[in-house]
Amino acid sequence: MGRVTMSSSSACGDEEEEEQQQLVCVTGAGGFIGSWVVKELLQRGYLVRGTARNPEHGKNAHLLALDGAKERLTLCRADVLDSASLRAAFVGCHGVFHVASPVSNDPELVPVAVEGTRNVITAAADEGVRRVVFTSSYGAVHMDPNRSPDAVLDETCWSDYDFCKRSDNLYCCAKMMAEITATEVAAARGLQLAVVVPCITLGPMLQQTLNVSTHHILRYVMGTKRSIPNAVAAYVDIRDVARAHVLAYERPAARGRYLCIGTVLHRAQLVAMLRDLFPKYPVTAKCEDDGKPMVKPYRFSNQRLRDLGLEFTPLRESLYETVVCLQQKGHLPVIKQKQRACL
Ligand SMILES: NC(=O)c1ccc[n+]([C@@H]2O[C@H](COP(=O)([O-])OP(=O)(O)OC[C@H]3O[C@@H](n4cnc5c(N)ncnc54)[C@H](OP(=O)(O)O)[C@@H]3O)[C@@H](O)[C@H]2O)c1
Repeated sequence: MGRVTMSSSSACGDEEEEEQQQLVCVTGAGGFIGSWVVKELLQRGYLVRGTARNPEHGKNAHLLALDGAKERLTLCRADVLDSASLRAAFVGCHGVFHVASPVSNDPELVPVAVEGTRNVITAAADEGVRRVVFTSSYGAVHMDPNRSPDAVLDETCWSDYDFCKRSDNLYCCAKMMAEITATEVAAARGLQLAVVVPCITLGPMLQQTLNVSTHHILRYVMGTKRSIPNAVAAYVDIRDVARAHVLAYERPAARGRYLCIGTVLHRAQLVAMLRDLFPKYPVTAKCEDDGKPMVKPYRFSNQRLRDLGLEFTPLRESLYETVVCLQQKGHLPVIKQKQRACL
């Protein structure tokens, strides 16, 4: 890790000891991805400032229990709609990881994602931050009904905004607009920007509360989701996503988008894997489109992240650990069964 000298002290506390260590800020530190980015940064020796709208809330307590947190993590109150709070959080930071965003199709939350991102990039530039890593989503990349089935999904692809809007995928609209805003504002302000583009992210949660992608798996193992769509989706492990953020930050030449996809498969294959790993849970096999031809998985490229040194975790491992974590955190009753030890 590069070392820099910090001259200013933090608005969020006395940070004399920041000297000689690199200070970075993670927005949305208490969320699923934010928590793992914080953990990865602490493991690599950074001084980390994490933002949350309510840092004292119990849902952020897991952060303070991370290895190295006592010595090198501070939590700071900031809302992405409040520029002054962001500037205070970024004082003295070399880098910012902008992870915070509503993960929702609620039309009222679209401006939070977009204006929030504009505020974050602007505040980072105002405070002299050098590099920003922005967390986009493959919702900004893959939602294009006119993409040829033979096309390889890569960093050049963008979702079709009008299609997303028509089909009520407002989260995808928000992430597209947020990513474009981040790119434009960073370019205008001379800020180095790398964009990590994760797909459906699975694996163990550090936080206690459920996030959207983990809830997606919970509904299948609980049996509350009674059928699967005739659809394919892309998946990646949370630890790979966290590593991708830090790799994109640490490579000085890393710029632009990094598609973070480990596997693309049909939902039927996903639920089959779940049934195989956890045969006692009532995981559905019924497809909504029974009788119609199954949608085929598309090809994708994660070469840019591989070139940075990222190795992807097999989906089977991520799925297994997602379910075990749901059991351990009390979201899923443990059914006594011979769970497959062999992944
Ligand atoms: N999980 C996935 O499958 C996935 C896939 C692709 C991309 N992503 C992206 O990854 C990021 C994190 O998602 P996640 O899955 O980790 O979701 P999450 O667990 O729900 O975390 C979302 C975070 O955003 C913060 N946030 C929401 N509104 C905010 C606001 N107005 N001001 C400040 N912070 C705000 C929340 O902080 P508070 O504690 O203050 O509520 C929370 O920490 C998002 O940008 C999402 O689009 C996620």
